Formats: sequence, structure tokens, C-alpha cells
Amino acid sequence: MPLVNIEALQVNFAGKTAVSAASFAVEAGETFSLIGASGCGKSTILRVLAGIQREWQGQLALFDQPLSPGMRYQGKLRRNVQMVFQDPYASLHPNHTLWRTLSEPLKIHGMDNPLQRVNEALEQVGLPADAAQRYPHQLSGGQRQRVAIARALLLRPTLLLLDEPTSALDMSVQAEILNLLNRLKQEHRMTYLLVSHDADVIAHMSDRAAFMAEGVIQRYFDREALVRGEHRMS
Ligand SMILES: Nc1ncnc2c1ncn2[C@@H]1O[C@H](COP(=O)(O)OP(=O)(O)OP(=O)(O)O)[C@@H](O)[C@H]1O
Ligand SMILES: [Mg+2]
Repeated sequence: MPLVNIEALQVNFAGKTAVSAASFAVEAGETFSLIGASGCGKSTILRVLAGIQREWQGQLALFDQPLSPGMRYQGKLRRNVQMVFQDPYASLHPNHTLWRTLSEPLKIHGMDNPLQRVNEALEQVGLPADAAQRYPHQLSGGQRQRVAIARALLLRPTLLLLDEPTSALDMSVQAEILNLLNRLKQEHRMTYLLVSHDADVIAHMSDRAAFMAEGVIQRYFDREALVRGEHRMS
């Protein structure tokens, strides 16, 4: 059974269709990516899977568990699906230090050694341990993006939803973070669903990908097609 199974997913916003008849399955351990122009519905699909966009139609299953519209994620499901948001500034609480932002989810999910876990996570994404006392506005855009990645990884999710996770980083840091994501994926047997505008990022990261236009999946690429660069023509 695939880890994620989406069949004929449809999402409407005030009568406008953002996602139409989207179907794909993601196998455990894979990185599956969504590509396509701005506004084609990529983030909307991730938000549905994260349990944030609760109005949708179609069929959806995560970890073999069928989901229904309106459902709130709780317990294991909530911990096992984490998302790195496209806009890290909006996803970090402005009045909370990084320590609070990073340690609170650990406490909620009853994980031990929060201090050690937070310091380790900061180090992994290349931030100094003393950054824990800072607030989001005291960080650069790239640093905020790294905090968002650290927060998602701290809970050791089964499924990580990555929405343009490195778009605010320069090339060398981007490569470092992508390699870190790949290493942690192997170490912790995670599965990734990635959104990126960057054809190089897609080719570097993905086992398979889907190209979307105006809410509809137009084409699928397997690893061989990605290596051949076929996704670059779309
Ligand atoms: N909460 C919302 N209310 C109304 N319309 C929305 C909402 N969220 C998204 N949309 C619309 O749905 C469509 C798809 O948006 P989505 O954010 O999924 O695009 P995207 O592919 O992630 O684009 P980008 O690459 O710019 O991030 C767009 O037309 C957008 O304006
Ligand atoms: Mg988006």
C-alpha cells in the first residue's frame, strides 16, 4: 500500500476550482514532487494533506487510513505529517523565541530531552545554539527557512511536506540543506512530498514528479524522465 493515496482530489475556493481530479500515490521512502506555474494548485494539495485545508472532495488515504473532509488531525497522525511552509515568516510565531517554537511541539508530543533535541536540530540546519533565544524578526529569510525545516524534522515525521523549502537560500546553502534533507530521509526512513519551481532541485531530489497546470495534473515523470531532464521542457 502506498503511504499517500490521492484519488480525484478536488478543491474549490468560492466557486473557483484550485485543484481538479488530482490523482497520485506516494510510496514509502519516495520523494514525489509537484511542479508547475504559480497558482496551479501545488500548495493547496500540500495543505490538504497537512490537514489545514479541510474542505475538499475525492478520496484520500494517509498511512492506509482513509481521511474525510473536515477531519482534524490528532495524535499520531498529527505528529507523523509535518509541513515546511512556503512562507517561513508567516509560519513562525512572531512573539515566540526559536526555543519556544522548537520545544513546544516536542512537549506536546511527549518527547524527552527537548534541550538536546533543539540544539541538535539547530546545529543540523547550520544555526548556532544561541540562536534559540532569538525571535523570527532577528533572523534572515534563509535562517527562518532553516528554522522551519528544523521544526518539521524535530518530530521525526513519517511524511514531510516541503513547500519550496529552499527558495530563500543561496545556492551553496541550498545544496547543503537539500543534502541534509536527503540524509535525514535515509536515516529516519521518511517520505517526502516536495514542491519546487527549480528544475535542478526537482532533478536532484525526486524519484517521481507530477506537472500541474491550472489545477490539473498534466503529466507524470519517473526517475529516468527526470534524469533525462524532460521536466525542464514543461
Ligand atoms: N484560501 C484560499 N482562498 C481562495 N483562493 C485560494 C486560497 N488558497 C489558494 N487559492 C487559489 O487557488 C489557486 C492555487 O493556489 P496555490 O497556492 O495552491 O498555488 P501554487 O501552485 O502553490 O502557487 P505558487 O507557486 O505561487 O505558490 C490560486 O488561484 C490561488 O489564488
Ligand atoms: Mg505555493
